[in-house]
Amino acid sequence: MLSWDEFDKDDGAEGATQNAKPAAAVIDLSLEKLDSEGGVAAQEARAVSADDSAAVARAKAALDQLDIAEGLAELEGSSARVAVDEKRMINCRADLNQLVPFKYDWAWQKYLDGCANHWMPQEVNMNADIALWKSKDGLTEDERRIVMRNLGFFSTADSLVANNLALAVYRLITNPECRQYILRQTFEEAIHTHAYQYCIESLGMDEGAIFNMYHEIPSVAKKASWGLKYTRSISDPTFTTGTVETDKELLRNLIAYYCVLEGIFFYCGFTQILSMGRRNKMTGVAEQFQYILRDESMHLNFGIDVINQIKIENPHLWDAAMKDEATQMILQGTQLEIEYARDTMPRGVLGMNAAMMEDYLKFIANRRLSQIGLKEEYPGTTNPFPWMSEIMDLKKEKNFFETRVIEYQTGGALSWD
Ligand SMILES: [Fe+2]
Ligand SMILES: [Fe+2]
Repeated sequence: MLSWDEFDKDDGAEGATQNAKPAAAVIDLSLEKLDSEGGVAAQEARAVSADDSAAVARAKAALDQLDIAEGLAELEGSSARVAVDEKRMINCRADLNQLVPFKYDWAWQKYLDGCANHWMPQEVNMNADIALWKSKDGLTEDERRIVMRNLGFFSTADSLVANNLALAVYRLITNPECRQYILRQTFEEAIHTHAYQYCIESLGMDEGAIFNMYHEIPSVAKKASWGLKYTRSISDPTFTTGTVETDKELLRNLIAYYCVLEGIFFYCGFTQILSMGRRNKMTGVAEQFQYILRDESMHLNFGIDVINQIKIENPHLWDAAMKDEATQMILQGTQLEIEYARDTMPRGVLGMNAAMMEDYLKFIANRRLSQIGLKEEYPGTTNPFPWMSEIMDLKKEKNFFETRVIEYQTGGALSWD
């Protein structure tokens, strides 16, 4: 375990004297004194000494020109201490580098939950999958199509989501606890892309063909280009929010990525692969998808909270036109996913068929609509795959994460030798 006592011993005579002071005297040190004492010592270190090379002397001299005020002015938001009332989801003027005081506890909690569920693709055993995939009569043609199509779609879809977060959304969501979760989510998307790559490599598939499927297979390409349409304008580095139209553009992006891409486009593929795992086929790939689905359901819930919080803080954005647009986006996404289900399942397979998947997707679409306060458009639809909800519920699962959390914590006990 890391012990700070070891570091204190190296502080030399001055450190030892300081440590020997009675506790009350240490407490009496004013913040002002703490600030100024170190400043003098730091300034002295700047003096050029005879041992300094010309390059070191030049580096020290260059720092004399550094204007702290200018640097701070470039930071986002004001330089004052942040009050919780100043925090806003979008267009916030308070300093975004001060994580606390918390206002959006739900975002911070999701960040903690995401970290507690950490996993890596190499932890999943792929041996049975490799044997099954390579054996001539291991899988039917329809089952092979499902594996190929889904690895093809997901291997690039998670990159689209990660790029949208890193290159567009992160900058425009203006509170640090949500940004903290977005950073975690972005890393999870990298792990998901890694997981697909790991499956593709393990199974010895044609990597170029799989990763390029979103250009070559129409049902995959349509979903990707539908998503890309909604990131184009806000990914422009000159794009800023602050007007009704630009704020709505960000809202459209959040609905497209959280409610449709992560909330609808993933569901046909997840159901197919998990159904395969339930039948004891491609169990390694299915296990990878299971952990990914668990992450994704948290991404989705975070996105729903973000959208609803923006609506609460900016009710003027959620007018009749925006509601209609949001409904249309979710219905278009559902239609594209229904088409994807037809393309990936031209016949019945794994105890399911395209018609059942259509019902499931309509059931999911109703949920997405109601989660952001819109009217359900497919009344009376029921869930033909209730086992999917069980898989998504973190608490009902086997103790994978409990054991992993312990292992990661052990790995976190650093040795500085
Ligand atoms: Fe993902
Ligand atoms: Fe995601």
